[in-house]
Amino acid sequence: MAMTVMLLATLFLSTVSAARVMPLPIIDSISSRVDIFDNSKYGLLQLANGLAQTPQMGWNSWNFFACNINETLIKETADALISTGLADLGYNYVNIDDCWEALTRDIKGRLVPESKSFPSGIKALADYVHEKGLKLGIYSSAGVFTCQVRPGSLFHENDDAATWASWGVDYLKYDNCFNLGIKPIDRYPPMRDALNSTGRKIFYSLCEWGEDDPALWAGNVGNSWRTTDDINDTWASMTSIADLNDKWAAYAGPGGWNDPDMLEVGNGGMTYLEYRSHFSIWALVKAPLLIGCDVRNMTAETFEILSNKEVIAVNQDPLGIQGRKVNATGTDGCLQVWAGPLSGNRFAVVLWNRCSKAETIKVSWDSLGLESSTNVSVRDLWKHKDVVADAVASFGVPVDAHSCEMFVLTPKLSHFRA
Ligand SMILES: *[C@@H]1O[C@H](CO)[C@@H](O)[C@H](O)[C@H]1NC(C)=O
Ligand SMILES: *[C@@H]1O[C@H](CO)[C@@H](O)[C@H](O)[C@H]1NC(C)=O
Ligand SMILES: *[C@@H]1O[C@H](CO)[C@@H](O)[C@H](O)[C@H]1NC(C)=O
Ligand SMILES: *[C@@H]1O[C@H](CO)[C@@H](O)[C@H](O)[C@H]1NC(C)=O
Ligand SMILES: *[C@@H]1O[C@H](CO)[C@@H](O)[C@H](O)[C@H]1NC(C)=O
Ligand SMILES: *[C@@H]1O[C@H](CO)[C@@H](O)[C@H](O)[C@H]1NC(C)=O
Repeated sequence: MAMTVMLLATLFLSTVSAARVMPLPIIDSISSRVDIFDNSKYGLLQLANGLAQTPQMGWNSWNFFACNINETLIKETADALISTGLADLGYNYVNIDDCWEALTRDIKGRLVPESKSFPSGIKALADYVHEKGLKLGIYSSAGVFTCQVRPGSLFHENDDAATWASWGVDYLKYDNCFNLGIKPIDRYPPMRDALNSTGRKIFYSLCEWGEDDPALWAGNVGNSWRTTDDINDTWASMTSIADLNDKWAAYAGPGGWNDPDMLEVGNGGMTYLEYRSHFSIWALVKAPLLIGCDVRNMTAETFEILSNKEVIAVNQDPLGIQGRKVNATGTDGCLQVWAGPLSGNRFAVVLWNRCSKAETIKVSWDSLGLESSTNVSVRDLWKHKDVVADAVASFGVPVDAHSCEMFVLTPKLSHFRA
């Protein structure tokens, strides 16, 4: 047992520095079940633009506003990120989605913003956002049109990347509409190269809807890649997307993340507890935390969820290993344990009740690769309290229907040290 714990400690330490370069095959000897340390598919191909060392955080206009956007809204959103304190918590990208473009390029073939909704232009908006210490994101499609039928960037990669760089854009979400049936693996790398050749560090977010399993090839193309079709503001959509994204856990890490799509928290289609589950799981699986509601007008509950520092810290943990589903029992596996390792020899655990009535859910040390006799202290990230000092073998609590509880577990290693 002492050996296992020491091995774990060494593993954690070495993972921090070594994860970017090499897989860690010794992990297999620790747990023969779901291997929550497995990042063996990560690290060989990372895009080397220095960005995305932790998952991106910020806001995107689509989920709440769709095409109803303009420069006033974007400025007010930047203002609200600052005044609410969300920016200080890490939400620093202000991302404009589809519909910012005029319907046609200008006479020189350049993209131009729609003059009614963005009369001052994108550069002025970028300047405004930068003055507040935030970053500006923009949107296009790896197709001949965007999804809302504005000019797309396929075959215009160099010109469009140069335009965005000249405006001071910091982030590109690159969609998949009107793609002429050309494979993503042929359409997405040219934009990587175009962005790179501008010399400006621009976060590259791939959005090919998980169609060609981008985790398998996008590590050296983008800083994140969508693993699924679009989310919508329902429990059914959120849970199914969480499941689809799970199988790619071993491919994520600093520099390149799986993206199960933007947050719906605060948009009204789910309950408070469902949104809490949505946010907890997205944080645990190292998903981008891109707020999708109107941050100028959040309820106290929405703000409480989005501003939970301890949950955000799990998402932004420097170890950068995606948490995953480690156990599912009950009808259709609706009583679930999701877990992942954190820096500092700790674990993050989400006990997620997807059944229709309250049940007790337990995490066993076994599923974390710990000896069952290990003493573990448990902190509740929603109650913001240390709840147990010396749990042994397992830890469980009652969880309401469609709710989750989230914890950080710290095994006591001190008495194993010489
Ligand atoms: C800008 O967009 C917001 C959100 O859709 C809308 O409420 C507002 O009326 C718009 N303002 C202008 C000047 O169009
Ligand atoms: C461009 O790519 C090279 C090689 O991967 C990398 O070292 C450099 O930082 C990149 N530059 C930008 C601006 O992304
Ligand atoms: C939302 O997503 C779910 C699950 O993918 C799907 O069944 C449903 O039709 C979608 N609803 C809307 C309004 O798009
Ligand atoms: C603010 O949000 C509430 C719902 O939470 C809505 O009823 C109200 O119309 C919104 N106000 C504005 C100005 O958008
Ligand atoms: C899964 O949970 C059930 C119920 O708590 C438990 O009996 C089983 O041992 C767990 N499996 C793992 C791998 O932890
Ligand atoms: C481990 O936990 C048990 C109770 O669960 C306690 O009696 C014991 O003192 C703890 N040991 C250490 C080393 O903390």
